[in-house]
Amino acid sequence: MQTCTGKGDLEMKTMRNLKTLLAGLLLVPALALASGGPELDRAPNVSGDKAALQNGAKLFVNYCQGCHGLSAIRYNRLTDLGLSEKQIMENLVFSDGKIGDQMTTAMSAADAKKWFGAAPPDLSLVARARASEEGSGADWLYTYLRTFYRDESRATGWNNVAFDKVGMPHILAGLQGVQELVEMEGADSHAKPTFKLVQQGQYAPAEYDKQVGDLVGFLTWAAEPQAALRTQLGIAVLVFLGVLFVFAYLLKKDYWKDVH
Ligand code: HEC
Repeated sequence: MQTCTGKGDLEMKTMRNLKTLLAGLLLVPALALASGGPELDRAPNVSGDKAALQNGAKLFVNYCQGCHGLSAIRYNRLTDLGLSEKQIMENLVFSDGKIGDQMTTAMSAADAKKWFGAAPPDLSLVARARASEEGSGADWLYTYLRTFYRDESRATGWNNVAFDKVGMPHILAGLQGVQELVEMEGADSHAKPTFKLVQQGQYAPAEYDKQVGDLVGFLTWAAEPQAALRTQLGIAVLVFLGVLFVFAYLLKKDYWKDVH
């Protein structure tokens, strides 16, 4: 009996993961059609920087998980970022959560739709889904999180250069400050916005950019947590083949030394 329930449970979870994956895949062509946003800023590459990725995880839990899930990731997976299970439980898991839980959000999609007019999507695959000819998904996220501006015509009071008429308010305004859009130079994928900071945030602009870079690095890792392992494995295989070549060559020389 026990094994039966376990198996059913596993199948259900697999189905759920498959559904998330499918939803993500369906999103890709839809987003490709909707391209034509502004010129994207290049996100810094922090993939090998564990301190940056840990900071990104902290920012995600504190500022984003209230509305967005990251359901492809379980908390214990964060050990890949150099955190111990104890650190994860103490700093990143809400009081009733368990180390093996998926990083879901507590907000229901129905409430979110009522409040924001759009449900906040699960962000597991967003770093891959937002990749386009203009730049990587990380570049889009990096641009998106830095180009919110005041717009009184919007219900939330905010608009965004990378995502026109977005339903999400500027969650990081306390850190970045409040900016107004002064002008858009150029058009389509070459459009460059100019902003004016009308209210100081907790961070100076360069420090805010660094924080966003860490957060985007974390979301990029979450979209493909195996990527770093794959690179390491690739290098290990090449080293192994190199060593094997030396021995094979020595052996060959030894075999042929009397044949002349
Ligand atoms: C108060 C709720 C709320 C919080 C907190 C929040 N968001 Fe959102 N977010 C939304 C909503 C609602 C949307 C959907 C907007 C739309 O479709 O117009 C959204 C959309 C997005 C999108 C666009 C997804 C896509 O591809 O369509 C990204 C990326 C995103 N949020 C990232 C973040 C990050 C990163 C944080 C944390 C810094 C965050 N959000 C915090 C409500 C929230």
